[in-house]
Amino acid sequence: MSLLAVRDVSKRFGGVKALAGVSFAVDKGDLLGIIGPNGAGKTTLLNCISGLARPDAGDILWEEASISRVAPYRIARMGIGRTFQIVRPFPSMTVRENTAMGALFGRPRGRLQPVAAMREADEVLDLVGLAEKRHYPVLRLTVPDRKRLEVARALAMRPRLLLLDEVMAGLNQVEVEQALAMVRRVRDSGVTIVLIEHVMKVIVGVCNRVLVLNFGKTLVEGPPAEVLNDPRVIEAYLGERYARGQKTNGEHQPTANA
Ligand SMILES: Nc1ncnc2c1ncn2[C@@H]1O[C@H](COP(=O)(O)OP(=O)(O)O)[C@@H](O)[C@H]1O
Ligand SMILES: [Mg+2]
Repeated sequence: MSLLAVRDVSKRFGGVKALAGVSFAVDKGDLLGIIGPNGAGKTTLLNCISGLARPDAGDILWEEASISRVAPYRIARMGIGRTFQIVRPFPSMTVRENTAMGALFGRPRGRLQPVAAMREADEVLDLVGLAEKRHYPVLRLTVPDRKRLEVARALAMRPRLLLLDEVMAGLNQVEVEQALAMVRRVRDSGVTIVLIEHVMKVIVGVCNRVLVLNFGKTLVEGPPAEVLNDPRVIEAYLGERYARGQKTNGEHQPTANA
């Protein structure tokens, strides 16, 4: 049984077909990477899974039950957590308080008491590497630390599936390495992960499978080494990226690590 199954999902915004019949499954323990050009439909896909967008056609199953018409807060309580491409914490609160919000309001059964929520927050802050900055106001955090906080907030809801939307965008080489270590720790704690990422080093470094989206459809799916050397992927996505020149965020030719 798959943990999550996306079946032939389509989503249109006016004249734009953001998703045009996407299917894939996520098994427990998977670390699935989703890559593809800007506008390929990656974020829309996460929005459909987390209930923020409703598919026009197709279905999404969580442990065999359809969730494509379930409200986002209920999907979160069923065990699907996510981060957002645009980070939006509560700026005047501390790192710890921000994280505790997830523990307080996102739990499946009733609310935790504030003291218990703070304890939970400390645990996940340790996991993401923010323990020492837990009393900082969020305003003082650097960009990479804000992304860690976003992961911590999602983890505080104790998801079984975590959806990460470009949490490593704009990070330098060292920060990418640290973020990679964080993703591994989260995976090793037993959380299944789907991550959208443009940094190829991340894809080859942690993912056991990769899905390439292009124009709202699956172009290729398979193990990273295979997918990143696939001529169709190089033509539709990687070729264009390398032609624009290397970015500063630690990516490199996929063949170097494949
Ligand atoms: N809420 C929305 N309203 C209108 N168009 C949208 C909306 N969300 C996404 N789109 C469009 O759908 C397409 C896919 O977007 P998106 O899922 O954000 O792609 P990606 O995350 O792969 O860059 C784009 O053409 C985008 O402009
Ligand atoms: Mg996106």
